[in-house]
Amino acid sequence: MTPYRAIEWKNDRLILLDQRLLPHQTVYVTLRDAAGVAEAIQNMTIRGAPAIGAAAAYGLALEAVKPWPDARTMQEGLKVSGTALIAARPTAINLAWAVNRVLAVNQNPVITTPELLREKIVAEADAIANLEIANNIQIGLNALELWPQEVTFLHHCNTGALATVDYGTALGVIRAAHDHGKKVFVYVDETRPRLQGARLTAWELDQLGIPYKIIADGASGYVMRNCGVTAVTVGCDRVAANGDTANKIGTYNLAIVARAHQVPCYVVGPTSTVDLNTPNGAAIPIEERDPEEITKIGSQWLAPSGAPAFNPAFDITPAEYITGIITEQGIAAPPFEQSLREMVEKAQRNPVANGE
Ligand code: MRU
Repeated sequence: MTPYRAIEWKNDRLILLDQRLLPHQTVYVTLRDAAGVAEAIQNMTIRGAPAIGAAAAYGLALEAVKPWPDARTMQEGLKVSGTALIAARPTAINLAWAVNRVLAVNQNPVITTPELLREKIVAEADAIANLEIANNIQIGLNALELWPQEVTFLHHCNTGALATVDYGTALGVIRAAHDHGKKVFVYVDETRPRLQGARLTAWELDQLGIPYKIIADGASGYVMRNCGVTAVTVGCDRVAANGDTANKIGTYNLAIVARAHQVPCYVVGPTSTVDLNTPNGAAIPIEERDPEEITKIGSQWLAPSGAPAFNPAFDITPAEYITGIITEQGIAAPPFEQSLREMVEKAQRNPVANGE
């Protein structure tokens, strides 16, 4: 499907493409236990909400393939690992969603041997990864009706195959438009401070042959006023029941600028990112990361040495700035309380069939 894989389960090991080193170095790391996966999620070797969910599910699979004396000890051990994995990054709900899916299998009282439990847990992790891929493909198809034949997107952060196991969400809709013969152009927000746009989205668009230009985050107002942007497309780390959306820092600014220029702003993500238990954006925990992500590049200080900085990794875009939320079950429109609930219920009744 995509010539690179951010996540691969091979010979009872988890192989991750180290996203901290892209685009100039392609290095794969091999992980052997859940603690290593939690660390890789925290330090952003792997990142993007659906991808960290799938990686965490495989983190539990790594524990499951270890030798265990009996099923009960194994079940207790996996519960402890699950808690550590969920704590690795607090904002994306996909992490808890995926871990809890695997833990539900782990708790099955009917399974009495470590061998059988191991088989079921690895199968559940595979099912989660494959579901994400199938969802992404369907999301891209669902969005096609929104785009004219010539379409210019403004995209924030990275939401491609790297962030999602394969294909992508917000970048997936761009990819689907391109694959379906539309003339696509993308303005790529560089996405300070970790530069997911300039490093990762640009790299993915190069591989896909989709034309783009990187812009400084602060250029989005100028670009929307002067460069004929058809739509803003962004991913999501958690969508609250009322449609308020947590996504990469800067998304909120972008949504306000889009509204000021009557440019539609679409949030794109699978229903696994919708959290009906979180009533609104105020209830979403926002991860704060090391201030040196802002003041340094690598080991090099950009700001005066030791300068203080404030580094929230995500922000909340209030639902009122969101035109629609594109999911694998369809496009949720305002009022989101009702439409999101319908999408989630549809997904529970009828998940998209696995694409792989
Ligand atoms: O800090 P990151 O790189 O994990 O943040 C990623 C984002 O904010 C993405 O937009 C979001 O996770 C959706 S990925 C399909």
